[in-house]
Amino acid sequence: MEKKTAVLFVCLGNICRSPVAEGVFSRLVSEKGLSHLFEIDSAATSANHIGESPDPRTLRNSTRNNLHLTHKARQLQVSDFHRFDYILAMDKNNLRDILKVAPPEYSAQVALFASFDPDPRFEEVPDPYFGSEPDFQRVYELCEQAANHFLQTIQNP
Ligand code: 4NP
Repeated sequence: MEKKTAVLFVCLGNICRSPVAEGVFSRLVSEKGLSHLFEIDSAATSANHIGESPDPRTLRNSTRNNLHLTHKARQLQVSDFHRFDYILAMDKNNLRDILKVAPPEYSAQVALFASFDPDPRFEEVPDPYFGSEPDFQRVYELCEQAANHFLQTIQNP
C-alpha cells in the first residue's frame, strides 16, 4: 500500500482559515478519487479556541459554498512535526509561530500555503477575524486556488 501524504493546515485560531483549507483540500482530493492517499487535518498556533467549531461566519460562508465543516479546533503539537509531511501556514505570523515551537529535528516541510501558487501577489491567506462577510469569501476562494496548486505541485514534483 502506498504511504499516505499527511497535510496539516495551520492558522492562529483554527476557527476561520485552516478549517476551510482543510475542508477545501479534502473535498478536492475526494473529487479526484485520491482520499485514500491523504491524511488531512488542521490546527492552531494559539490555545484560544481549542475544542470549538469553526467561527459562525466561517460556517455560514462555507455552507454557501457547499462545504460542510465538522472540525473542532486543536493546537499544534510537537508530535505534528513528525506525523505530517507538510505543515502549511496561512500567513507569515503563523509560519513564524510554527517554527518557534518546532523541535530541533523534524521531517515535515513547513511552508506558506500560498507559496505553492505561482501568483506573486498571493503570499498569504489574510486573517478575516476582524473583517466582514466578503473577507470570509476571499479566504474560501484563496484556499481553493492554493489547494489546487498545492495538489498539482505534490503530484508533479
Ligand atoms: P484564524 O482566525 O486564525 O483564521 O482561525 C482567527 C481566529 C481567532 C482570532 C484571530 C484570528 N482571535 O483573535 O481570537
